[in-house]
Amino acid sequence: MTTIADAVTAAHAKHKNNRRGKNANYIPALATVDPQLFGVCVATVDGQTFSAGDADTEFALESISKVFTAALAIEQVGPRVFHRKVGADPTGAEFNSVLALELHNDKPNSPMVNAGAMTATSLISATDADDRWRQILQIQSDFAGRAIAVSDQIAASERATNFHNRAIAWLLLCGGYMYSDPMEACDVYTLQCSTLVTAVDLAVMGATLANGGVNPVTGKRVIAQANVPHVLALMTMEGLYTASGDWAYTVGLPAKSGVGGGLVAVSPGKMAIAAFSPPLDKVGNSVRAQAAITQIAHTLKLGLFHT
Ligand code: DON
Repeated sequence: MTTIADAVTAAHAKHKNNRRGKNANYIPALATVDPQLFGVCVATVDGQTFSAGDADTEFALESISKVFTAALAIEQVGPRVFHRKVGADPTGAEFNSVLALELHNDKPNSPMVNAGAMTATSLISATDADDRWRQILQIQSDFAGRAIAVSDQIAASERATNFHNRAIAWLLLCGGYMYSDPMEACDVYTLQCSTLVTAVDLAVMGATLANGGVNPVTGKRVIAQANVPHVLALMTMEGLYTASGDWAYTVGLPAKSGVGGGLVAVSPGKMAIAAFSPPLDKVGNSVRAQAAITQIAHTLKLGLFHT
């Protein structure tokens, strides 16, 4: 029987020399990250980690932050209110689509796209921007089991170029799906995307979901067990943007990607698999991270739809 350690090592070795894809270039600080970097890590629900390659190299969390902010918002407002105020359906459109809002009566539909992510950020009960940001950084840190920090360089680069997201935040206000000052929500969303994690952190963050909301390394309960299925469902429906259905069909695990090159997949009750490699495919998902996670999920027979 293949062990987890063998599966991780084999997946890293097999995809190490894949040079397909391109770094995200619409955020200047992401375009200059070394495209050769490639790290893989599995974290299990009993707190073990197995890694290969550049698994300790930090990279920008980007859209994967949407998972943890949605989890915090669900904790605060409850799953029913969250469902009504944000939604849980895939948009069928790009992650920063304005057309998707137009098509759905201004409802963002999913917190895994930019519009719904900013709505989720705006739902956090906060006294001001600092308080909102502090709570989001805290939940990221609780999921990871260590103090996560923002990259000032990436945050500055994103803030200088996030005009499209600012426009979406104002559209959400017009449509009735923005629950705080829109520029505050947009700015805190921009910061939450600019934090730095490693593949090991990301695996532990995913393993916290796999473990029913308790971080398997620190033992801290991060979110209620009852809220975990809602978070995993959101990841399943929209975690890899317009490739989410393809991912469900081929891999069958809830997952979330970010344009920094990170990707995490959750096998409920068992483990999480994380990988990081900056070059992305046309949809915006890391080429090598998808390949490595797919291989590990198949080797360990983790797909949820297998009988
Ligand atoms: O909103 C943005 O443009 C970024 N800060 C995050 C985007 C992201 O990772 C979506 N990606 N694939």
